[in-house]
Amino acid sequence: MYLFHLIHALLFVVPVIISDQNVSFTIRSDFAPSPRLTSEGLDDHVFREKRSKHAEAPLFKVEDQDDQFISEAYYPCLNLTTGVGWGSGPCVGNTGSVPRLGIPNLCLQDGPNGVRFTDFVTHFPSGLAAGCTFNKGLIYLRGKAIGREHRKKGVHIALGPVIGPIGLKAQGGRNWESFGADPYLQGVCGAATVEGMQDEGVIATVRHLIGNEQEHFRQVGEWDENGWDKLEKSLSSNIGDRAMHEVYLWPFANVIRAGAGGIMCGYNSVNTTNCCENSYLMNYLIKEELAFQGFIVSDWGAQHSGVNSALAGLDMTMPGEVFDDWLTGKSFWGPLLTRAVYNKTVSQSRLNDMCMRILAPFFAIDGCNLPTEDDTPNFSSWTHHTYGQELPYQHYGPIVQKNWHIDARSEFSDNTALTVARESIVLLKNSDKHLPIDKSDGVRRILIAGQGAGIDPDGFNCKDQRCCGGVLTSGWGSAAVNNPTVVTPYEAIAKKCRDRGIVADYCSNNWDLETVGDLADYADLSIVFVNAFSGEGYIYVDNNFGDRKNLSLWHNGDELIEQVACKCHKTVVVVTSPGPVNMEKWIEHENVVGVIYAAPLGQFVGQAIADVLFGDTNPSGKLPFTIARKKQHYVAVIDDLGGEVCPQDNFDRDIYIDYRFFDKHNIKPRFEFGFGLSYTFFKVSHLKITEICPPSEYLPYPSDYLPIVKMLEDDVCDPEDALFPHDDFDPCPGYIYPFLYNDNIMSVDDYDNDEQGKYDYPCGYDPDQASCPSLNSGGLGGNPALWEVLYEVSAEVSNEGKVKGGYVCQLYIELPSTILPSPPKILRGFEKVFLEPGKSCKIYFNILHRDLSIWDPESQQWIIQTGTYKIYLASSSRKVELCGEIDIGC
Ligand SMILES: *[C@@H]1O[C@H](CO)[C@@H](O)[C@H](O)[C@H]1NC(C)=O
Ligand SMILES: *[C@@H]1O[C@H](CO)[C@@H](O)[C@H](O)[C@H]1NC(C)=O
Ligand SMILES: *[C@@H]1O[C@H](CO)[C@@H](O)[C@H](O)[C@H]1NC(C)=O
Ligand SMILES: *[C@@H]1O[C@H](CO)[C@@H](O)[C@H](O)[C@H]1NC(C)=O
Ligand SMILES: *[C@@H]1O[C@H](CO)[C@@H](O)[C@H](O)[C@H]1NC(C)=O
Ligand SMILES: *[C@@H]1O[C@H](CO)[C@@H](O)[C@H](O)[C@H]1NC(C)=O
Repeated sequence: MYLFHLIHALLFVVPVIISDQNVSFTIRSDFAPSPRLTSEGLDDHVFREKRSKHAEAPLFKVEDQDDQFISEAYYPCLNLTTGVGWGSGPCVGNTGSVPRLGIPNLCLQDGPNGVRFTDFVTHFPSGLAAGCTFNKGLIYLRGKAIGREHRKKGVHIALGPVIGPIGLKAQGGRNWESFGADPYLQGVCGAATVEGMQDEGVIATVRHLIGNEQEHFRQVGEWDENGWDKLEKSLSSNIGDRAMHEVYLWPFANVIRAGAGGIMCGYNSVNTTNCCENSYLMNYLIKEELAFQGFIVSDWGAQHSGVNSALAGLDMTMPGEVFDDWLTGKSFWGPLLTRAVYNKTVSQSRLNDMCMRILAPFFAIDGCNLPTEDDTPNFSSWTHHTYGQELPYQHYGPIVQKNWHIDARSEFSDNTALTVARESIVLLKNSDKHLPIDKSDGVRRILIAGQGAGIDPDGFNCKDQRCCGGVLTSGWGSAAVNNPTVVTPYEAIAKKCRDRGIVADYCSNNWDLETVGDLADYADLSIVFVNAFSGEGYIYVDNNFGDRKNLSLWHNGDELIEQVACKCHKTVVVVTSPGPVNMEKWIEHENVVGVIYAAPLGQFVGQAIADVLFGDTNPSGKLPFTIARKKQHYVAVIDDLGGEVCPQDNFDRDIYIDYRFFDKHNIKPRFEFGFGLSYTFFKVSHLKITEICPPSEYLPYPSDYLPIVKMLEDDVCDPEDALFPHDDFDPCPGYIYPFLYNDNIMSVDDYDNDEQGKYDYPCGYDPDQASCPSLNSGGLGGNPALWEVLYEVSAEVSNEGKVKGGYVCQLYIELPSTILPSPPKILRGFEKVFLEPGKSCKIYFNILHRDLSIWDPESQQWIIQTGTYKIYLASSSRKVELCGEIDIGC
């Protein structure tokens, strides 16, 4: 591969910029932030082009300079920056190709829970289910299995994992796609998933950057009901600097450090600037501060400007055209970006930067290779037929083979999916130990109640999983995956009953309370399946516009439970939902003896739940969010424009999301973050804290900055090359080409002589603007010192019960409030162990510099405050088992 001679391994190597002064600061007087600017199109955000030399990416080293290759490399690479159009290739996103270099159209495909829009793939448990397992190793395997299936289908860039929404709002429609309402949890799970996927040779694209905490008003053009068509600009998530660093950006640092190749900017705005043209966000926070070396791709149609988004740090636009103008071929980039480079509005080096960022991950990540011309997808997102027109979505082209129906599944996928599903189930209540179900407990007749235990009359695969009439396997939207088969709870429970000589009946009618009451009256034990659903904003179900309109159970769920519980002394409730539901109506009912929570579990939902109910699996899942007693304790979704055309969402909770808020205000939740019961008991003992490296209040100036390596030259190709190849070129409808339409183009020299600055740049934009290197930067995921281990915490866990089980030991830290107050407890570690009864083992936690740090907005840096740090080893965010202290003096 001759490319390798040229484009040398990058990302993690070669020290370059070293400051030759020793720097120490309290408040860094040398830190002169770029001016804060206001301008039309960019509103009031800070326009800061990534200019500080050390962070200039990408880090390609051109070794044996091959001028020929170089000059070939860049112009054609423009093709990589722009999708060829919705439906114009097999995947949900397809870049242009670079025929001269043998690079095919790159395929970008959803999604985070398996391969979307195809057959013979596994429907994996959701991100939220993975979060419930609190099992890092297992989450890595899930990422690996998902990555492997993407690769088998020929996907090059997979659109996952999801680490935003972070779960600020309990009713947020897409919370089930990410790992739970805590930044630390999101970061660890996101990084493990990225590693798993990329180890299988597919590039991970982490989404969504950032603050996409609700679906309502995320995108203009999508909201045309209820008078919402007045929307002029996507909802703006206004996030304070400290919350940005300690909460929303926190998990991005993890995934960048884990080597994620792609990041997707969201539909929403941040501080009134669209995410995908927010320079402060992309250039400064992601590319400079966190030193991200890969590419930023827009969410589908989330780009709103051409030149500005290019300058603000966007590297790829998908699916290519302007939102909702599918099939028109109208794009902000493509030919317009070509033109903007020729007329020097966008510099050639910015274009080279985009291309190199897109290609970099294929070279940088072990196990990934730059695709060759025969490495192309073997499925089509647009038809399930084997043969079809070349462009089925456009009804265009000759009949060719579109689907090879490759079976991407494997025993590895099955085992992984089932294990995640089982381990994610959370046992919330088990009074008098009626679970697991045991015949010797007098259970000979079981009633299964609720449509949620059975088959959906509309099937298991209605488009994007929008039908909600049966068992919940997924939320709806782009993260949905076709179910190859589904094991329903009814089917799995009936089988267990058969094996044990128990009789079981099933009533799937949630409204016929009389019948269900009669059946419950006869049963020794009843299992009621109830659920709630949510999904992505482009699909509405029962007036739930992506986000849930309430926190109640769907389909008469509360009434169903009450009716069964009033007739049957042993009623077990199984809640499957994309997030917390209100349980107050029935949770304290004395006949509700057991309650189980399951996040969307994918195809094995029924089997996993049955295994837990009957004790074949000892539950070990923990809640990755708080279940409140009152709806008011959560942050509400903004679902009313109230006359606004540019709705504003001020993130007033600041750093106090989820349990941090309940703890701070002493609000008793129904079930706290981290809670989950087991069929056995564990004891934690022998807490030990060892200093590994003495802490320092301030970060050292990073010495091993990422290298700057001379990149490609900035010559612009002959504009002739940018014309359509020949006169009788027959363009496909809706296909986006990079070619200039105007054949009356100037020569390069003419462009040179063209007056610069004609373009109305964002006010204050200066191409030569330089910023001071950020103290917080210097390596992937920020200053390398942030990732140093300062303390090791160890303890012993023993299983004191009678059955084998898994235990999640959670480490929370209470920071001192010397400079700024912090939440009473923040999650900073978790370890899961499995133990036979009577056995014990040691567990270890590493406490990193960043784990003890706060972000100080005033001095713009991470600081370790002096004072006492309380270390809690806990079974939930409210059940502390052991407590220790670290004292950091002046
Ligand atoms: C910087 O610090 C190092 C180590 O403490 C010392 O050897 C060196 O002389 C210092 N350099 C300057 C310019 O002060
Ligand atoms: C860009 O992509 C289009 C479509 O994939 C292809 O026809 C064209 O040759 C590519 N252009 C260059 C310059 O590589
Ligand atoms: C499907 O595509 C992948 C990636 O191109 C390839 O490895 C695999 O062999 C293909 N399978 C078939 C049957 O074409
Ligand atoms: C958003 O605005 C807040 C308040 O002015 C500021 O602290 C924060 O840094 C801004 N964030 C971004 C991404 O612009
Ligand atoms: C250069 O091209 C871009 C993209 O078409 C356009 O927006 C801009 O106005 C042009 N600038 C000049 C100086 O012609
Ligand atoms: C909550 O929303 C669900 C789903 O749309 C609906 O069935 C139910 O009636 C609502 N409950 C309340 C109390 O409004």
